[in-house]
Amino acid sequence: MTITITGMSKSFDATQVLRGIDLKVEDGELLALLGPSGSGKTTLLRIIAGLDWPDAGQLVVAGQDWLALPAQKRRIGFVFQQYALFPHMNVRDNIAFGLTVRPRAERPSQAEIDATVDNLLTLLQIDHLAQRFPSQLSGGQRQRVALGRALAIQPSVLLLDEPFGALDAAIRRDLRRWLREVHEKTGSTTIFVTHDQEEAFELADRVVVMGDGEISQIGTADEIYDHPASAFVAQFMGAVIALPVTLRGGRAMAPGLDASALPACTEADGPGTLYLRPDSIMLDPDPASPWAVTRRDSTGTDLRLVLTDPQGAQIDVDLPRRGAPTIALGDRLRLRPLWGAMFSEGAPLAADPIQLSA
Ligand SMILES: Nc1ncnc2c1ncn2[C@@H]1O[C@H](COP(=O)(O)OP(=O)(O)O)[C@@H](O)[C@H]1O
Ligand SMILES: [Mg+2]
Repeated sequence: MTITITGMSKSFDATQVLRGIDLKVEDGELLALLGPSGSGKTTLLRIIAGLDWPDAGQLVVAGQDWLALPAQKRRIGFVFQQYALFPHMNVRDNIAFGLTVRPRAERPSQAEIDATVDNLLTLLQIDHLAQRFPSQLSGGQRQRVALGRALAIQPSVLLLDEPFGALDAAIRRDLRRWLREVHEKTGSTTIFVTHDQEEAFELADRVVVMGDGEISQIGTADEIYDHPASAFVAQFMGAVIALPVTLRGGRAMAPGLDASALPACTEADGPGTLYLRPDSIMLDPDPASPWAVTRRDSTGTDLRLVLTDPQGAQIDVDLPRRGAPTIALGDRLRLRPLWGAMFSEGAPLAADPIQLSA
């Protein structure tokens, strides 16, 4: 099902939470909605689900005006961060729930329901859990069951709101890969909400970056990473270092900076800012550089350095410890970023406030 959202706005009291969202989700696509907490992601999902209504705008799904349809007519599969499975029902009954509560005329036969649940248990790799109750499951297993329940009704659209948000990093990585496989088999048009850029990029066909109720950028992981559309997107990609530079002919210049590895940008000449990630900066010895090493810590895998200039500005640099050059406190080093995003002073500013992770 193709989802087309146009000019969608929504306020709660005096606070505008969605500001003119235009978005098209292709049939069968897995789209990630990525943005800091409070950027309006859940509000947008709730409107698609029919749990809330916008003040303005359109929502058309497969040619049908969904704002004229009540929630129960939309056939949405919804998985939340904290999905309350029915504690008194086993896994099998939880997954079957959406089918068993249908009015008699629309309800599949018990044999059909059983077959659907069997297929889902296999697809989701939870056959062995069928008779268990939610209290006997791990967090990751519960979310698999929650997804089974959402898929059982053969949803026209699947909405996942930070479904792995409460789980450990390692389990999340497994579930991500698993969800991608499930999506490839079911082909449901899916919107996956997250504030984790790695999760969004690894999972999705396309990523929509949201900031403060607006879409900041839409693209593939590589497009957004290589060409962030604004300082806000760059910062959200982890470019937490904002280095004042002079831009000339699309090149960034500053004392102690060798930006020759960065492609030229199209920003206007004059003062600007170069946004950098601590893990994408190479360091070369340079006695003339204003940047001196003032901290040097090791995490075992990485060297964590702090460089300070005579004005007291500080930059964090993380290098893999193996293969790193010998670096001592007080060394003067030139910054050679391998990745960066440059914006001239008149460029769009960051959406405020920026919360880089929850
Ligand atoms: N029912 C509500 N009443 C008032 N404000 C709300 C309501 N729901 C959400 N908000 C506000 O709208 C903004 C966006 O919220 P939300 O859509 O939940 O963002 P996200 O999911 O990106 O974290 C937040 O500032 C939040 O406090
Ligand atoms: Mg949310």
